[in-house]
Amino acid sequence: YKEVIRVEDITGFQSRSEEFFPLHWFRKMLSEHPVYYHEDTDTWNVFRYDDVKQVLSNHEYFSAEGTRTTIAVGAKNNEGTPPDKLNISSIDPPRHQKSRSLLSAAFTPRSLKNWEPRIRNIAEQLVADIEPNTTIDIVQALAAPLPSMVMADLLGIPLTDSHRFKNWVDILFQPINSKTAEESELKKQTAAQEYYQFLYPIVVHKRTHPGEDIITDLLNVDVEGEKFTEDEVVRTTMLLLGAGIETTSHMVSNTFYSFLYDDPSLYGQLRQNPEWVPLAVEEMLRYRFHNAKRHRTVKQDNQLLGVDLKKGDVVISWMSAANMDEQMFEDPFELNIHRRNNKRHLTFGNGPHFCLGAPLARMELSIALTAFVEKIARIEPVESFDLENNLATSAPGQSLTHLPVKIVAE
Ligand code: HEM
Repeated sequence: YKEVIRVEDITGFQSRSEEFFPLHWFRKMLSEHPVYYHEDTDTWNVFRYDDVKQVLSNHEYFSAEGTRTTIAVGAKNNEGTPPDKLNISSIDPPRHQKSRSLLSAAFTPRSLKNWEPRIRNIAEQLVADIEPNTTIDIVQALAAPLPSMVMADLLGIPLTDSHRFKNWVDILFQPINSKTAEESELKKQTAAQEYYQFLYPIVVHKRTHPGEDIITDLLNVDVEGEKFTEDEVVRTTMLLLGAGIETTSHMVSNTFYSFLYDDPSLYGQLRQNPEWVPLAVEEMLRYRFHNAKRHRTVKQDNQLLGVDLKKGDVVISWMSAANMDEQMFEDPFELNIHRRNNKRHLTFGNGPHFCLGAPLARMELSIALTAFVEKIARIEPVESFDLENNLATSAPGQSLTHLPVKIVAE
């Protein structure tokens, strides 16, 4: 297994809230240390838009392969590991192309069209359960359940089982902290086994009883004679869950945080103009996905970043900082859903590894927000809310564990 780089040593954030929204740090690095070598972790770090984009996309010089990584999710046993042929995030073109094609079968424009009413249905159900004149926890009510219910449904798992499904997913993708590492690894391995045992018979059944779902699509894949076995389909779903659940959930809760604390007039504007929701989604991805970063390994010596990079050096691309680069975005530290180029944010990456689930994530976020603004007229923050005590370490950095929202009027 790859050596995990301790990114927290690079940032040196003093609190969870600082990591939750590291604007000062981004501002400082962008202007003072745009290409920064960090000695303890032996990593190069880049922050400016053009550099970040170059490192992510120029695979001739910056490889997704390598022995060191900034990501550690999932469980390490056989049941928790994606099949070898789907080693998608950590291989370069041309090999990458095949994995990408195999997985793309699950993300055709046709499927997206089919999914829309199903996602709407789930979002509307969740919103319907919200009572007027109460205070709700938006994380529990919407941000946490939505992505796993959607994935369960798209995979073709009966909604009655989505509770168990969510439970396994929660355990599997909980970040490991160094104190409880061994204990959580064991829990993850057990969850991976239980998940596997639950899903395997469903996959076998779908071989003879196809449905309109991702499992069926994966069973039907044929890329130049390459197909998936049932075992591989089960483990492929694990990869999709790892990539798609925590990220989307993080985005939903951060959007509500932004409605409450960044610009309290925005929610009312969206209520008046629900057609602006997709614009808001894009700007939130730019401005409120705080800690997107990816690593690459230098493939051949070069000076593309203006410094001497040697083969084997690790470069970390800070996408969330690039999203605040004034060379690219006007008044980048302002939230503005009407900025013309907000779709050019790098939150979904760039180049050959550009997020395969981006259309799904965008659709899910838009549908959920639309369902919410259609039903709820006004929301307000709760005065006693203390951000620092409602954050927890997650793959995207720090995620809200609770976010109370007053539902003022229906
Ligand atoms: C790749 C972000 C949602 C599936 C990526 C990458 C980023 C990213 C930055 C590129 C990694 C790299 O360059 O190394 C996000 C964000 C999401 C999101 C911010 C939500 C707001 C999803 C969803 C799915 C998904 C919903 C599917 C269910 C994938 C896959 C890859 C990927 C399969 C690997 C693509 C490849 O390496 O070719 N994502 N993602 N993502 N994402 Fe997403």
